Amino acid sequence: MARKIIAALADSTLFLREWIVNPQRTGSVAPSSPQLGAAMARWLPRNPESFVLELGPGTGAVTAALLKSGLREDRLIAIEHNPTLAKLLRKRFPHARIITGDAWEMDTLLAELSVPVEAVGAVISSLPLLNFPKAQADALAEKIRAVLEPRGRLVQYSYHIVKDRSRGTDDFRLLASQIVWWNLPPARVHVFQK
Ligand SMILES: C[S@@+](CC[C@H](N)C(=O)[O-])C[C@H]1O[C@@H](n2cnc3c(N)ncnc32)[C@H](O)[C@@H]1O
Repeated sequence: MARKIIAALADSTLFLREWIVNPQRTGSVAPSSPQLGAAMARWLPRNPESFVLELGPGTGAVTAALLKSGLREDRLIAIEHNPTLAKLLRKRFPHARIITGDAWEMDTLLAELSVPVEAVGAVISSLPLLNFPKAQADALAEKIRAVLEPRGRLVQYSYHIVKDRSRGTDDFRLLASQIVWWNLPPARVHVFQK
């Protein structure tokens, strides 16, 4: 128990430090709560062979929830822009493919993997989309649509809990929307289907 608390404090300190360096891109002052991670992990693909692409995994709180919910680590691909956080994730999840890079380059990054990945069953995104211009969010959504399997899901959270859609998702069908109060700050999880 004490070890868990110390690890959580270390992650919070690291996250806060990264936020001070780049608040716009980091998008939050604290890692996601286990409750937010669990709310996102409910929407994993049914097929255990499907890949899952995580965008902006940060310190790995949502990643841990995905694995806890049954996702095989070797089916997980994550793209994290911050090299310090990506290094930490590689240590924590040695069997996952953690890419240091820009989520907007996902098509190229997936094609460049040693075993290229053409399609994924779900995209789980923690990207702070509200900090990016709408045109950029739309461009990202287009890339996500292209990489998703038919009926694949996009799970995205937002700190604008009154909003009923995330940016750039007009071409997706909204499947579910849930507020997670136990998070700093509270967040709304949106689930979209291709
Ligand atoms: C709100 S934080 C994610 C928090 C994460 N769920 C956690 O618990 O630590 C957003 C993350 O997106 C990453 N990020 C921002 N822009 C990115 C981009 N263009 N490509 C990939 N990751 C990006 C940031 O570095 C940050 O780690």
